[in-house]
Amino acid sequence: MANSTERSKELFERALRVLVEGGSSPSRGPANYGEYPLFIERGEGAWIWDVDGNRYIDWMMAYGALPLGHAHPLIVEALTEAASTGTLFAAATEVEVEVAELISGLVPGAEKVRFANTGTEATMAAIRLARGYTGRPRFIKFEGHYHGWYDDYLVSAHPQPTVVFGHPNDPVKIPDSSGLNRKALEDTIVVPWNDLEAIERAISNYRGSIAAVITEGIMANIGVIPPGEDYLQGLREITRANDILLILDETVTGCRIARGGCQELFDVDADIVTMGKGLGAGFPVAAFAGRAEIMEALAWGGVLHYGTQNASRAGMFAARVNLTELAKDDGAAFTRLWEVGEKFTSGLNQIFSETGTSAIAQGVGPMLQIFFTDRPEITDFRDFCTHVDRGRYQRFALSLFAHGVYMTPSSALHSVASLAHTDEDVAVTLEAVRLVLQSGMEE
Ligand SMILES: Cc1ncc(COP(=O)(O)O)c(C=O)c1O
Repeated sequence: MANSTERSKELFERALRVLVEGGSSPSRGPANYGEYPLFIERGEGAWIWDVDGNRYIDWMMAYGALPLGHAHPLIVEALTEAASTGTLFAAATEVEVEVAELISGLVPGAEKVRFANTGTEATMAAIRLARGYTGRPRFIKFEGHYHGWYDDYLVSAHPQPTVVFGHPNDPVKIPDSSGLNRKALEDTIVVPWNDLEAIERAISNYRGSIAAVITEGIMANIGVIPPGEDYLQGLREITRANDILLILDETVTGCRIARGGCQELFDVDADIVTMGKGLGAGFPVAAFAGRAEIMEALAWGGVLHYGTQNASRAGMFAARVNLTELAKDDGAAFTRLWEVGEKFTSGLNQIFSETGTSAIAQGVGPMLQIFFTDRPEITDFRDFCTHVDRGRYQRFALSLFAHGVYMTPSSALHSVASLAHTDEDVAVTLEAVRLVLQSGMEE
């Protein structure tokens, strides 16, 4: 690296003595960052600084949790107020009603809302709700979709060698962790995405026992893979015809792709929607929402969902500012997020073609990922695992650090535009990409 990162290195050695892998999640450790990760000290707008004082344009943005960027003045103001008047009461507050009203106004079908803290909590509660409401045990999840780390759906989510997939008509369920309750997976049906015949086949195999289908609206944990044309509508029609609930996991796409998320963008309606990441603008705020009739199954703890930290006042203060900013001026924020994302994506593709690099930038509006591949597009999990050079991407992303650009080093994750990114940030990033590719550092 051109810049010194000695202090990060020292901190990592110290961290290894007290933290597993020197951090708090495997995605922050050596698997993605190699020898040692950069320790980040400060963020402002689109920039972050590491502990050695190096500055980076941040395209990871806490995996999309920061639509307004780092330390947005309105968020700072709201949090200062919350900090001085009470951050958590674990009791009813006015601001939680306001935030629920904002969500209800923005997200189609969100008649009733329940707050949680993380995307994992929201999706696991949504699955329990669907089972409780329908009285059926099974649910369908898709290959390559990640919904969090709860046992029931922690299967066939991570990239794997292709030999273990099994036939697409009967995919092998690949557990993503040791220690899972194997019985939990008995009621989980795994199906390839972007394939309506596959879902029809699974439904007819397990007729009458399926509570819900859970899906990401845009695949965001295997790079970025959009749904095929009319795929989500097809999924909606099939689930409705079979009286199965559709759970749309908008943990990534909510507060990012459109005011109404993927429901609005793809003109599809879900029974239950989950949100997280971008909702709290940097605070752990998540939610699940849907038709009142379904959500009411939670009442009196019928389908139980608790949480001391649910709807913390501080988190709600942040979410209120965030949603208000994102919704104002007829959703102009989303026009801007798309503008930045598309400029970035098309700029990357132009550089790949000019430098003769076998790579594509693939995305939907503000979300994008670079795939080192010979393919013109990547359309599903199996495609990704078979045709994407993940090691090369990792070397590429790590090489960008020395040029002041911070992208996730995991090819299964993605870059996101925020409202803090400027056209200049895009231009500087593209120049850095060109330099790295010309130097062949990533090969
Ligand atoms: C689509 C999706 N759902 C759920 C989750 C889990 O969210 P959290 O990390 O907040 O538990 C993630 C996290 O990456 C996600 O991408």
